[in-house]
Amino acid sequence: MRTGPIASQRFFLSRGLSTDSYLLNLMSDAIESVLHEDRLFAPAAEFSARANISSQAQYEAMWQRAKDDPTGFWGDLATKELDWFQPFEHVMEGDMPDTKWFTGGKINASYQCLDRHLKTARKNKAAIIWEGEPGDTRTLTYQQLHHEVCKFANVLQKLGAEAGDRITLYMPMVPELAIAMLACARIGATHSIIFGGFSADAIADRNNDAQAKLVVTADGGWRRGKEIPLKANVDKSLEKSPSVEKVVVLRRTGGDVDMVPDRDYWWHDLMEGESADHEAAQLDSEHPLFILYTSGSTGKPKGVLHTTAGYMLGAQMTTRWVFDLKDEDTYWCTADIGWVTGHSYIVYGPLANGATSVMYEGAPNWPDEGRFWEIIEKYRVNIFYTAPTAIRAFIKWGDQWPQKYDLSSLRLLGSVGEPINPEAWMWYHRTIGGERCPIVDTWWQTETGGIMISPLPGVTATKPGSCTMPLPGVVPAVVNEQGEPLGLNEGGLLVMTQPWPHMLRTLYGDHERFVDVYFGKFGGKYYFAGDGARRDKDGYYWVLGRVDDVINVSGHRLSTMEVESALVSHPLVAEAAVVGFPHELKGEGICCFVIPKGEIPADEAKKELIKHVREQIGALATPDQVRFTTALPKTRSGKIMRRLLRDIAAGKESAGDTTTLEDFSVLAKLREDTEG
Ligand code: WTA
Repeated sequence: MRTGPIASQRFFLSRGLSTDSYLLNLMSDAIESVLHEDRLFAPAAEFSARANISSQAQYEAMWQRAKDDPTGFWGDLATKELDWFQPFEHVMEGDMPDTKWFTGGKINASYQCLDRHLKTARKNKAAIIWEGEPGDTRTLTYQQLHHEVCKFANVLQKLGAEAGDRITLYMPMVPELAIAMLACARIGATHSIIFGGFSADAIADRNNDAQAKLVVTADGGWRRGKEIPLKANVDKSLEKSPSVEKVVVLRRTGGDVDMVPDRDYWWHDLMEGESADHEAAQLDSEHPLFILYTSGSTGKPKGVLHTTAGYMLGAQMTTRWVFDLKDEDTYWCTADIGWVTGHSYIVYGPLANGATSVMYEGAPNWPDEGRFWEIIEKYRVNIFYTAPTAIRAFIKWGDQWPQKYDLSSLRLLGSVGEPINPEAWMWYHRTIGGERCPIVDTWWQTETGGIMISPLPGVTATKPGSCTMPLPGVVPAVVNEQGEPLGLNEGGLLVMTQPWPHMLRTLYGDHERFVDVYFGKFGGKYYFAGDGARRDKDGYYWVLGRVDDVINVSGHRLSTMEVESALVSHPLVAEAAVVGFPHELKGEGICCFVIPKGEIPADEAKKELIKHVREQIGALATPDQVRFTTALPKTRSGKIMRRLLRDIAAGKESAGDTTTLEDFSVLAKLREDTEG
């Protein structure tokens, strides 16, 4: 046992500092990876033969060129794949953190997604196939989407919006959200989308931070059969956000709303009779396309800013490479557009590729747990992209739901948002993919703009739980606290050593914080993602979760994710969250919060699970506590709030009470207003 961490833990605890600062203090040691996974799934020969990137040699040649000659690699792609009003002069200028891309060029993201397809056979192809939660449907071809976007661009301009203004979009998952995004992009206004689950205070904070001039919202949206009162939340937020001059309100649910004269306007009134002629603004490559707020580890949310040309090139190419997108595919990403996944992989990436993108408004279990599978069967979806938190819910709901539907149209599956537990991966592979679909486990972040580390489905042999290899143009490394590269199988900090076109440019209004948060740790040399990772003997990347989710047991630094994966591999367990708590002897003990698949089992089951983790990982990872629960506190995007659980685990320790059933829904509600 090392004395350092324990002594410092006492130091922190005795001063009433949070366990967070204690955990950060532990980062000087390497992370030990204890999860062993040997299963390997090579792509089928028929899949590879037809794939957009089809051989290891092709991938390696692309990756090497992008690393050695980024200017040539990205410059060629930008020339070939983006439609320019005026060609760029320089591919890249400046080092990280302030690299500029494709300077001197003029471009428009809305034009890239729409206008250029109208000259091709895609003109009358479905751009968006939309299904509302109550069962209403709509399909918009590229031509029709273009028509609506042009009209709404005219509407925004008549309301006084200009290039450079910020516009908040607080809307349900309806086609008008995509229309509003593309209309903003068309006139050069920067959109800031706020997820429909956020409260009035959260909207006000974001409006104020961005100094938004307009808000586009709806009367309400549907979620599990209930109406979410979007307009009422906006009304409340505007009491505290004076920069907003006007509000556009879409009628979606038909619920009652208060319309304030000379401030609030109905979408349908403004659109009626509006011209569908609108010329896309010719914008600089580095023109701000959107701000997306993401929660920081402390304090106020961070306004991640993305610009136009680099972001678009990243979204477009990563969609094509990773999802192997073909013109005939029906592609469905289940994310909410309020998160970055929806920005890049429902709207900008698929539309720039001229793809057909499915969009669903509501919950996966409404009216029953078969809804997603019904949608796949109905539209013959070929490519399906979802999150591990959803996959674990599907497993809990039972195989009878997917088994009721014909999922044979699927040819590729994707996962994003968290490390996927190997057992959840295997279930996804068997039960949804019919053992025939490659799975792309895509690692990336709001800040990275697009997928960074992921299998290429026609190339990479996958291992359950590993996001495998970096995409062309991405040069990651696993380093220690001093920034020195670590060897294979050594866990450390995941960094990016070279800039890429779709990286964030700043945190809106706070460039200093941007430099500090992402580049401060290694003196500006590397982008630090905040995640821990290791590379295995084959060079595959395994993301171990956020570094503040690491625990230190008797001097061994363990990733909580690996203990969770061991738990989830037991047939009793649907979902698990593992945190450390102060422990006299070990420094930190291991506390497991477990959602069982069925009823809460008898106490015997706890011993069984402890034994199971010991068998899977080894004695050093023996859980000290197992607590059964029916829910876990999560952020709005489905990530477990381990920080909350740490407090609970620490507080209950002295009482020696390990049997309590926690009701996390209350805690989660308390956090809703503050947490991203
Ligand atoms: C985590 C979502 C492991 C990671 C696109 C990252 C993942 C954070 C994966 C970003 C993955 C996302 N494997 N971990 N495939 N994908 N993460 O900004 O910790 O909502 O830093 O972006 O999610 O979350 P964000």
